[in-house]
Amino acid sequence: MNPQTEIIDGLTRASACISPKYFYDAAGSALFEQITRLPAYYPTRVERQIMTTHGADIAQRIGTGGTVIEPGAGNCEKARALCQLIRPERFVALDISEDFLHQAVAGLRAALPGVTVSAVVADLTHAIALPVDVPMPRRLVFYPGSSIGNFDPPHALALLTRLRRLLDTDGVLLIGVDLVKEEAVLNAAYDDGEGITAAFNRNVLNHVNRLIDSNFEPGQWQHRAFFNAAESRIEMHLEARADTLVHWPGGGRSFVRGERIHTENSYKYRADDFVALLHRAGLSQTQIWSDPANWFAVILARP
Ligand code: AVJ
Repeated sequence: MNPQTEIIDGLTRASACISPKYFYDAAGSALFEQITRLPAYYPTRVERQIMTTHGADIAQRIGTGGTVIEPGAGNCEKARALCQLIRPERFVALDISEDFLHQAVAGLRAALPGVTVSAVVADLTHAIALPVDVPMPRRLVFYPGSSIGNFDPPHALALLTRLRRLLDTDGVLLIGVDLVKEEAVLNAAYDDGEGITAAFNRNVLNHVNRLIDSNFEPGQWQHRAFFNAAESRIEMHLEARADTLVHWPGGGRSFVRGERIHTENSYKYRADDFVALLHRAGLSQTQIWSDPANWFAVILARP
């Protein structure tokens, strides 16, 4: 499905939805970068702490050299730290946000002179095609940040299986997973007082307006974020502040005041459940690192 068809399909369902992958236009990627620096948004900070505390152990288990492949590389900040640890020969950054990716990769090239860095624009919800010159031996797929949380368990399983297929028997997956914790901590991480997450959520409407030529007014939509315990996920929605009509060429829909567009799920796992999912994807867990409070896990797995 092309983006236009996919977006219109989501918007015209009884319960409207927009895929979270449309958050990441240039403005959205920059807003997400701001989110990662918020005190309330613990995942980036705690994962970085884990990687720093256990860096030597992680590097020792993975070994130096080889090829690092990072789906959803974003600003490449995490890759920079990892590459400094394991000094790969090659780094391949995949991301859906083209401008942002090329800028990030340029910064990485300057910071890592000995590493061949390449950028691939990729939508992870589809098949992943790497450039043909990416060597097969000694690949490390690096999937940090609990990006896997955007996928419901069946789609997470499908994506983990696609990632596993990028690896030969000598390959490894290093993945960051956000864990279930106290609800207040989860809710605060997705509804910060500075309103950055609200701006990030609303910005998806600017991106949608450009993609389908619609006339959403982001200011008319209220940010909602809450933990859904039954589904073990944070949900983000945009709620209409008033009755609204939205148009795009060839169609449109009305929303009544209070009606919501579901924009994101961010699944939170129990470590055991995630390891079980890895097994089902043909990956066996070899090591788990966590923080003292067990808020986040970094898992090393092998085919
Ligand atoms: C990029 C999917 C990991 O789910 O925490 C952050 C996105 N959304 N704040 C997450 C996000 C709102 C983030 N991931």
